[in-house]
Parts: sequence; C-alpha cells; structure tokens
Amino acid sequence: MKRIAIFASGAGSNARKIIEHFYKNEKVAVALVACNKPGAGVIAIAKDAGIPVLLIEKEKFFRGNAYTDELNAAGIDLVVLAGFLWKIPPRLVAAFPQRIINIHPALLPKYGGKGMYGHHVHQAVIDNKEKESGITIHYVDDVYDHGKIIFQATCPVLDDDTANTLAQRVLQLEHRYYPSITAQLLA
Ligand code: GRF
Repeated sequence: MKRIAIFASGAGSNARKIIEHFYKNEKVAVALVACNKPGAGVIAIAKDAGIPVLLIEKEKFFRGNAYTDELNAAGIDLVVLAGFLWKIPPRLVAAFPQRIINIHPALLPKYGGKGMYGHHVHQAVIDNKEKESGITIHYVDDVYDHGKIIFQATCPVLDDDTANTLAQRVLQLEHRYYPSITAQLLA
C-alpha cells in the first residue's frame, strides 16, 4: 500500500478530489492530511473521510524537524501539496527527494514565485493579455514553484474573463488531473 500525505491550508477542493479518487483503493491510501490553519475547510473534509489530521506549527515546521519524523512514522511515500501556502523547508525537501509534488494554477515557469498564489496569479495572466493559462504539476525543491515539471494542461483565457472566472476554469483542470497524475506517479 502506498501512502499519501496531503498538505493543504485552504478550502481543500483538490484535497477532496484526491481523497475521493483513492477512496477504498487497494493500492493507495490518503493516510494523513496536514494543515497549518485551524478551522480551514480541508480539516472538516479530512475528518468526514476518517483521515487523521496533523496540525502544522510554524516553529516546528521551519525551525524544528519539519515534521519529517511524523511523516516517516506514518510511512508516507508521497507528499501532495494542494493549496499549502507555506514554503517547504529544505529539511523536508531533503527527506522526501522527488517525493513532494505541488499544483500551481498557471503555466510555469510563468506566473510563479513568491506572492504568486490565488487571484494574484489569474490577475497577472489577464493583465498581460495571455491567450491561454492552465495548470502545472511539479516536483517541489528549495525554490518556490521551481522543481521539475511533471504535467501541464491548458485552457483558454477569454476576452471578458475576470480573475474569478479564470480561476474557476483553471480549478476545473486541477480537479480533473491532479488525482490521476498523483496515481500515475505512485503506480
Ligand atoms: C489551487 O488553485 C491550487 O492550484 C493552489 O491552491 C489552490 C487550492 O485550492 N496551489 P483548494 O483549496 O484545493 O480548493
């Protein structure tokens, strides 16, 4: 059995899709949901699914063991970031080489880096009059939104798009592809 830990800070719609995808799967289990925000939507999603929640504390994450011992003790094979906004500390990257993935709501290497999250990304895409946007699934290294690209999918940017309407179109792509690409990586 391969074991996934999902790291998420927010609404958790991607986490939900991944949890649903592997529900009752005989080869892959979502063993843990890690979250740095008490009260985040993703916590209720995990609890409803009977998945243990690990509340991440800043001090321990950035200046302690970065939860490497807990992840190893839980037998985690792959860490899946799904809207986790803190940078992954070098210690955790080193403990899980090529075993941490992230999804970014744009076509990296464009529109990535510090501060490029949520609506900031989509607004920048619209401001630059891009004709297409999309998603990037990539390995996580020590630089924001920088690790090797695993998969990309595109969608059009329409003339009358707002950051909101574009975000919704991109989120549909995320839901469609993140669970299956995660499954492929574990196969
Ligand atoms: C997604 O847009 C993802 O690309 C980004 O954070 C957002 C998370 O949304 N990394 P949700 O919490 O999964 O709904």
